Amino acid sequence: MMMKRVLLLTLVAAGCGALAALAYAWHGEIAPISPPPAAAFERAQIERGASLALIGDCRTCHTAPGGTTFAGGLAMPTPFGTIYSTNITPDPETGIGRWPLAAFVRAMREGVDREGRHLYPAFPYDHFSLTTDADLAALYAFLMTRGPVVATAPANQLPFPINIRLVLAGWKLLFFHPEPFKDDPARDATWNRGRYLVEGLAHCGACHTPRNLMGAEIRSRAFAGGAAEGWTAYPLGAQSPARVPWTKAALAQYLREGWQADHGVALGPMGPVTENLAEAPAQDIEAMADYLASLGTSASKTATPKAPAPDASGQRPQSAGWQAAAMALPADASAGRRVFAAACAVCHQAGRPLPLGGVDLALSTALAAETPQNLLNLILRGVPAADGVAAPIMPPFAAMDDTALTALLDYLRRDIAARPAWPDLAAAITAARRAAAPKTTANPAKGAL
Ligand code: HEC
Ligand code: HEC
Ligand code: HEC
Repeated sequence: MMMKRVLLLTLVAAGCGALAALAYAWHGEIAPISPPPAAAFERAQIERGASLALIGDCRTCHTAPGGTTFAGGLAMPTPFGTIYSTNITPDPETGIGRWPLAAFVRAMREGVDREGRHLYPAFPYDHFSLTTDADLAALYAFLMTRGPVVATAPANQLPFPINIRLVLAGWKLLFFHPEPFKDDPARDATWNRGRYLVEGLAHCGACHTPRNLMGAEIRSRAFAGGAAEGWTAYPLGAQSPARVPWTKAALAQYLREGWQADHGVALGPMGPVTENLAEAPAQDIEAMADYLASLGTSASKTATPKAPAPDASGQRPQSAGWQAAAMALPADASAGRRVFAAACAVCHQAGRPLPLGGVDLALSTALAAETPQNLLNLILRGVPAADGVAAPIMPPFAAMDDTALTALLDYLRRDIAARPAWPDLAAAITAARRAAAPKTTANPAKGAL
């Protein structure tokens, strides 16, 4: 797969090389400035920039584990190799302290650094390019007023020819055609605001939209489901496999609080996204939920045979039918049901409310998804304790042998989710075990180049 990608990229690079060199390749250097004093920026603008930075997940990508916020150095494994995020504090030598606003705007809109070099689209400028002048100026004001940190990112580990930034000119020619954001006059201001954020700064499609072999999002299949760090970023909108259709209110709560009673907790790479949004303005989250809800719900396609309706108080009672059955464990209970009763029922049937309790698994998208990837990630890795805050915890079950694991997944998929068995379960188990085995860092790398 890797070789195929490299080969393809080489071919395309060669094909586009000559053309690209003419059309795009060289961008001039923008002259450096002396770092502007903090007093050069309005307080309101800095605060606005802080909110936009949360929506754009800047700190998630630009902070290494244990490192200083925005100082960069986070390793982002991509299908092509490892790319490191850079230092975006205003340090004059190792950060962006000498960047004038024009250079920052060019990086965000065109993916070109101050000196004129192309940037890798692991930095989601293919979304950030939609951001307005005023919002970019606010982000700039926010970043330029952070404390400067001396830090240089490690060199990227990329094979030839991807290690040559000029090749990115060919990639951009093929896949990057930025246009300014335009409001849809047929929709109201809230919807337009939501679309502007979801498609732009929040770059939701970077994970939730599938990518082609060259690492570019397939925009014609927006939100059809994508990949992030060995996790499945489920389809959103009409193609969502969720057991209970997403509503605007549910989306707003999930994005803001990181959990929702009918859907569970935001886990894996979605966790940091909701941690950032928790601090962003509620109005912006509402707008994003408004736009997302307009993409449709899967109501007609995904019946929810096992999930009971919420009661008058809006609480969804645990689906007592299958739970009681699982607990009773008749003599002829399947192997999977026995594993479930022994290992999982104590939490996922306890009726302890979310976010600390385990969700009724009949409601979990993980069981209904197209692949068992997230379900396996969760079973093998558990949900680790968070530092200093009350957070959901689930123990890892990596010690469970393949026979028990297969039986358990079979039971969850067929009896609880009422879906046909996943094909190639054995291969999925092997892949998930391999991914869970080495030390895993929480980082937001995606399938991007
Ligand atoms: C998904 C991860 C990711 C997110 C989210 C992200 N960045 Fe980056 N950013 C990167 C990577 C990786 C690079 C380095 C790209 C390269 O070396 O070609 C980068 C580079 C940059 C650069 C160029 C710096 C330089 O020295 O060349 C700027 C400016 C920047 N990011 C600003 C931002 C801002 C502002 C936000 C939030 C709105 C943000 N980034 C969010 C991954 C990310
Ligand atoms: C860094 C990658 C990444 C980004 C960026 C991202 N997501 Fe996600 N998202 C995921 C993953 C992975 C999951 C699955 C999480 C889980 O299993 O709990 C997910 C789950 C979700 C779900 C739950 C779907 C379901 O049916 O259970 C929603 C809704 C969602 N994301 C919306 C968004 C929105 C809106 C944005 C932009 C603000 C966004 N995501 C940005 C990776 C991402
Ligand atoms: C000690 C309690 C505990 C045990 C035991 C436990 N879990 Fe969990 N599990 C949790 C908590 C807490 C969460 C996070 C909240 C949530 O999303 O349900 C979680 C999350 C999950 C999720 C994600 C649900 C979603 O979509 O948000 C799945 C799937 C899951 N567990 C499966 C299992 C399976 C299968 C077993 C048995 C092998 C198991 N769990 C055992 C507590 C537990």
